[in-house]
Amino acid sequence: MYCTRKITDDIYWIGASDRRLSRFENIFPIPRGVSYNSYVILDEKTVLLDTVDYSVSRQFIENLEHTLNGRQLDYIVVDHMEPDHCAVIGDILLRYPNAVLIGNTKTFNMIDQFYDNMKYEKITVAEGDTVSTGKYTLRFVMAPMVHWPEAMVTFEETTGTLFSADAFGTFGALDGVIFADEVDFDRDWLDDARRYYTNIVGKYGAQVQALLKKAAALDIKTIAPLHGPVWRRDLDYILDKYNKWSTYEPEDKGVMIAYASMYGNTENMANALACMLAEDGVSNIRVYDVSGTDISTLISEAFRVSHIVLACPTYNGDIYPVMENFIKDMKALNLQNRTVALMDNGTWAAVAAKKMAAAFETMKNITVLENSLSVKSVMFASQEDELKSFKDAIKASI
Ligand code: FEO
Repeated sequence: MYCTRKITDDIYWIGASDRRLSRFENIFPIPRGVSYNSYVILDEKTVLLDTVDYSVSRQFIENLEHTLNGRQLDYIVVDHMEPDHCAVIGDILLRYPNAVLIGNTKTFNMIDQFYDNMKYEKITVAEGDTVSTGKYTLRFVMAPMVHWPEAMVTFEETTGTLFSADAFGTFGALDGVIFADEVDFDRDWLDDARRYYTNIVGKYGAQVQALLKKAAALDIKTIAPLHGPVWRRDLDYILDKYNKWSTYEPEDKGVMIAYASMYGNTENMANALACMLAEDGVSNIRVYDVSGTDISTLISEAFRVSHIVLACPTYNGDIYPVMENFIKDMKALNLQNRTVALMDNGTWAAVAAKKMAAAFETMKNITVLENSLSVKSVMFASQEDELKSFKDAIKASI
């Protein structure tokens, strides 16, 4: 049975959701699943905008056939060549061999990398080129590195619909409702949207900024991404989030305390600090066990808050491995503009705080508070004043 939604009179969502896949890109846990959005425009010419992941291809093809209702497919716009969107192009061409692919030069290089000797007709577009489909006009806007080099977005000028590729996407399966104004996005979707953005596109803030500047010149009424809900109201809400994330500005003044603990003693340091901060009136605090929290959640939180406290044991004369991995990922994703405070633990030679500070020195615009806190094995009440002064330094910087 088909499963489609109407976006406007002639534009349809024909995507599908996967609730079986446990990890997106085989890395990121997706307990709420993920949607692969695809769209059709019915005009004098018919247009398919991107395909889907192979896992949902059966539903997708049924949706496409139902929506075309016996018509031929004229164009396939390929905004993004990652296989979660391009995997079904070959199958679609087998069914609709006269469909013409629309992409940029890099798109077609990648098509020939993913598909061995596939024969197809193509229209190669560059920045600002347009294709008329009858009453509608598609304008192509290049969006390199959002999230791959070939990525582009397609703006339909009459309806003001921006087919935004990965931009403005989020993890999470769609539950029949596909518009952001049909759900409580802030309550139910924002965390997954942030986790999706920061882990997948987070590194490319400058390129996202470049796309946002181009988008600002368009009269956008609807944003139709390749994952998650479609935006037709409150566009400023999601544009503001993207602006913050891509300029590496914190969303919230708050403290993330991320600890790694082998036997609970470093965990106790984190909890004691959290209690002391809260007792002193700091309310936006969250504590995470780095060993037990997926790194995509840690990264998402690091992008959300203004202050990050890291606490870990010294291990093999270095930073405890899971914490080292977290710091490495923050650097890889280009996190900036944060204040960091460091605690370490070591039964004989605590060096983790010093090593963590050195790692942060290689990142942009990270302020590491001078006042770090070191514990030998277990924090006793005799270190209360030291902990208090560590807490005071954090509070003063908020
Ligand atoms: Fe949803 Fe970069 O692919």
